Amino acid sequence: MNRLRYPATAQDWREQARRRLPRFLFDFLDGGAGDERTLAANVQAWGQVALRQRVLVDVSQVDTRTRLAGQDCALPLALAPVGLAGMMARRGEAQAMRAASQAGVPFTLSTVGICALQEVRAAAPAGAPPPWFQLYMLRDRGAVRALLEQAWQAGCRTLVFTVDLPLPGMRQRDVRNGMAHQGARPALLRAAQVLARPGWVWDVALRGKPLSFGSLASQVPGGRDLGAFKAWVDAQFDPGVTWRDIDWLRGQWRGRLLLKGILDEQDARAAVAAGAEGIVVSNHGGRQLDGVAATAAALPTIARAVGDQVEVLVDGGVRNGTDLFRALALGAHGVLIGRPWIWALAGGGEAGVRQLLASWQRELLLAMTLTGVTRVGDIGPDQLDQFSSQIGLHPLCSKRQQLLNQ
Ligand SMILES: Cc1cc2nc3c(=O)[nH]c(=O)nc-3n(C[C@H](O)[C@H](O)[C@H](O)COP(=O)(O)O)c2cc1C
Repeated sequence: MNRLRYPATAQDWREQARRRLPRFLFDFLDGGAGDERTLAANVQAWGQVALRQRVLVDVSQVDTRTRLAGQDCALPLALAPVGLAGMMARRGEAQAMRAASQAGVPFTLSTVGICALQEVRAAAPAGAPPPWFQLYMLRDRGAVRALLEQAWQAGCRTLVFTVDLPLPGMRQRDVRNGMAHQGARPALLRAAQVLARPGWVWDVALRGKPLSFGSLASQVPGGRDLGAFKAWVDAQFDPGVTWRDIDWLRGQWRGRLLLKGILDEQDARAAVAAGAEGIVVSNHGGRQLDGVAATAAALPTIARAVGDQVEVLVDGGVRNGTDLFRALALGAHGVLIGRPWIWALAGGGEAGVRQLLASWQRELLLAMTLTGVTRVGDIGPDQLDQFSSQIGLHPLCSKRQQLLNQ
């Protein structure tokens, strides 16, 4: 099977991941909800934000460093929580934690990660900051309390609490590939897809054990295989969660609280009122409700409303360091990335994630250099092309052409 010798972009890593993973796993990480319109819109919307080139500014000292959630970062970026990352590469979360620590950015461990918090914590080099921990509200509040305590004991001080998953979205690729079904026939379909990827079988299925939800091990009674864990988690999603539960959570967690999955200005204000230190503007990477706005479109209003009170992070469709720059120009303090790091992990392991992050840092540095800003804190609307800002986030080229032709 042909492999790219030198993957350069997130898209290249996506292709590597596609060649390496069994079909149902690749589609699980790559796909979105419904017709995947929001998934596509997330990516396209960043591309429509035009930047303002400036020249003959002293850019001999450009600094991409910043602080996110009180932590020094080499660039304004953190790895988003991605469930089942340890199915994409052997002990995947531990590999990604090492890569993130070396690159100087935070790694967020999902509630449904394969590696347990302690394993991920131990993977970081001595002296490196601990991972951030992502949690969903579970029906069993005792389990929530136990997980918070486990996170605190593992040194985590930033909790990413996901609020946009009262129910899992309709992910049609999972239906087509038999991932959403139980029974002999779908199992056979998955087995055929697994057998087509012997490299994955050797790396993950044989040498990557145990394949269970590590951090939940003490919570799931009798859970030994992924099926038992998944059944427990599915039964634990609580569509009855409201802002009152966030008040309860606030009382339980002494560290920083980031609410992830905010797409609406009123919800952003409510998050501030609930005492969150930050929010993540997110539509779960287009995996929940197909048809909601792209995050690049939702970001400016939210950033204007609460950006001076809490840290505003954004994710969804950010595919390179220039998109990262665009997010900051639209008012974010930083971004989370999901698929790009998991593609790089699946395609190239720890080294793949390291390469990806190094390349994004260079792109960010280049964008700063050519827009004439030397510090991350100075990136803002001034770096947006005024002409395209006036026309908003419409398809830039065609709209611009129309205006020029008038
Ligand atoms: C395969 C996959 C699994 C995910 N699992 C979780 C999760 O366990 N918890 C969570 O809060 N978000 C999860 N997300 C959403 C990401 O944290 C993030 O919001 C999203 O991937 C950002 O969009 P991007 O992939 O376009 O960068 C997942 C996303 C993907 C692609």
